[in-house]
Amino acid sequence: MGVPRRVLAQDQVARVDDLIARMTLEEKAGQMTCLADSFRPFNPPNPQAGIQDERRLAAEIRKGRVGCLFNGIGVAGARRAQEMAVGESRLGIPLLLAGDVIHGLKTIFPVPIAEAASFDPHLCERTARAMAVEATAAGLHLTFAPMVDVARDQRWGRVVEGAGEDVYLTGLLSAARVRGFQGRDLRRSDSLLACPKHFAAYGAVAGGLEYGSVDISDETLRETHLPPFGASFAAGALVTMAAFSEVNGVPATADRELLTDILRGEMGFRGFVCSDYTADEELVAHGYAQDARDAARLAVLAGVDMSMQSGLYTRYLPELVNSGAVPAATVDIAVRRILYVKAAIGLFDNPWRSLDEETEKSRIFTPSHRALAHEAATRSIVLLRNEGVLPIDPGKVRKIALIGPFAEDRDNLYGPWAFYGDPGKGVDIATGLRAALPDPAMLAVTRGCDVGGAIDGGIAQAVAAAKTADLVLLAIGESQAMSGEAQSRTVIELPAAQQALADAVAATGTPMAVLLRHGRALALHEGVAGAGAILATWFLGSEAGHAIADVLLGKVDPSGKLPVSFPWESGQEPFFYDRKSTGRPVVDNGSTEYKARYATTDNSARFPFGHGLSYTRFTLDRLTLSDEALRWDAAIEVRARLTNAGQRRGSEVVQLYIRDRVASRTRPIRELKRIARVTLDAGESQTVRFSLSRTDLEFVGAGNRRMAEPGVFDLWVGQSSVGGLHTQFTLYGAPPGMTA
Ligand code: BGC
Repeated sequence: MGVPRRVLAQDQVARVDDLIARMTLEEKAGQMTCLADSFRPFNPPNPQAGIQDERRLAAEIRKGRVGCLFNGIGVAGARRAQEMAVGESRLGIPLLLAGDVIHGLKTIFPVPIAEAASFDPHLCERTARAMAVEATAAGLHLTFAPMVDVARDQRWGRVVEGAGEDVYLTGLLSAARVRGFQGRDLRRSDSLLACPKHFAAYGAVAGGLEYGSVDISDETLRETHLPPFGASFAAGALVTMAAFSEVNGVPATADRELLTDILRGEMGFRGFVCSDYTADEELVAHGYAQDARDAARLAVLAGVDMSMQSGLYTRYLPELVNSGAVPAATVDIAVRRILYVKAAIGLFDNPWRSLDEETEKSRIFTPSHRALAHEAATRSIVLLRNEGVLPIDPGKVRKIALIGPFAEDRDNLYGPWAFYGDPGKGVDIATGLRAALPDPAMLAVTRGCDVGGAIDGGIAQAVAAAKTADLVLLAIGESQAMSGEAQSRTVIELPAAQQALADAVAATGTPMAVLLRHGRALALHEGVAGAGAILATWFLGSEAGHAIADVLLGKVDPSGKLPVSFPWESGQEPFFYDRKSTGRPVVDNGSTEYKARYATTDNSARFPFGHGLSYTRFTLDRLTLSDEALRWDAAIEVRARLTNAGQRRGSEVVQLYIRDRVASRTRPIRELKRIARVTLDAGESQTVRFSLSRTDLEFVGAGNRRMAEPGVFDLWVGQSSVGGLHTQFTLYGAPPGMTA
């Protein structure tokens, strides 16, 4: 039980055992309690709950009734709180200091969905490492990240916090983020504990409604929503967070099957589980607990080791144990898990780890972190469409009209969950462009409209500016308040005022590149959809303007790929590329009557998952398999030749998809299994190689068993989830005597 022995020395285990033997029930409940840091309040995104009063919080710490503080930063304040815990509480157990460092502390990196467009685990690991360096320099030990929920519906606001709609990509990038946050050695002062969240299936809320219900088969839960957690645990994560939502009628926070049988029994998780904010208290509103006491009982019995913000555990656990409603052993197990994690990061040996003023001064918002944020931002941009408009040729384009509410905007560069970032320190588009253009006077800026409404004469001014320009750059999209927690939308389109602006500017006929700002996939229409070029620029963080300018001017070749499908219409949601065939699929060039489609739209994507252009042109050919027969315990090698057939150096992400033709559970029409990023000079070719074995073909079948079934598989190697080179291979069954 608890943290694996390999990360915990024997003397630490003994130390924890000794502490538990000496702790009162009140102190145990205290270790199981995490409260918002009211010493250093900063404008939390959640409704106020918990202790708002500094003096009361201090008294609670001194009484040993708090084990973890969250969302306060700064070494001086952290040191004062730690002194209270270590020096003034009876047992001197150090506090764990946590925070939501989701995509940066002061240096703000692209929002996670943006960075996922890099399809590059190495980049995600590097940015997570940089975030960890800043967060630990500011006195934190734990971040409530990465969010590893697979986002199946773009109406859900939290799409922005994850790695998109695909299970394989989410697992790959989440594991990389965990490795980056934690570094190689948990005891180092710059190692930041990760907390993959929200366990589980939060990304499957019905209708994309935030905090909504999840009704899901056991198989889909295990096949789509659990694997990224598994990948994150395998990468070393020791903390996870129970989801706000319910799964099949039981709120996750009270779901023993989910938090204990599945999480620990099936998945082998060894760390501790915290509630998501006041989710334990919310069991009453769910209609699952009688009252707050009952809620505390249900949560702890389910396997929630740490209660965040509600204070329910300190209030009720001692009495629940004394009355026999909760076994004392349940509490001991939970406390042990939490103390093991504290021991694993060396907190007992050095409660002052990560609390050094000099480090705080020198490691935050550094030039090297900003350079990495700049690099990550350029790599997050996806060129969705380009009819010869980009890159800007300064020889031909003399006058540029930068139009739109985000042209000079600095309030919506960071995206949600960047509340420690200093407002105003990000680089906006106009500033980035002026710095990069041969002559800053080439750029004329017109706002045109606000994010959510028209401005007097705005469209007329924008149209006039467009008419006299050689190129329009239209900076439109969502404000940062439109995505993130509690920001589900029914329609994933541009606000009407911006659509009107886009349509009017497009009607001038001046070549136009649209710079979309957004935290989710959008359904694009008319003037926007028909623009000569469209770039997905998400919320790119501190260096947004520089990164956008680099890509517009061709200093950097765009190489991002969509981690979420852009549907034609909002009403297609939930939409994801790995959907099922149905009994009446629409086949290429076939009739669409009485087929599985909406009467009003083609049920494909406008821009599919994996799509992303570059300024050069890549071609694929020579798809070969080492063997068309995949034997049960062997592997096949898949090879394809990638050629840069264009005029410039560039990068492509080669993607391998499969389809299991016939199985005992229907299988998706495609599933991503491998990616490879390749950079080639103009005219250069490279053979890309992938290896596939039976385990890559497994799915969750009857009895929740992972299994692969013999038979024929389609295989594509391509540049998105649509098209590509196609072949087939056959998986042969286990020879007699050998079982799966
Ligand atoms: C969010 C979590 C977050 C927590 C603490 C909750 O509202 O769902 O993702 O970590 O607040 O700020």
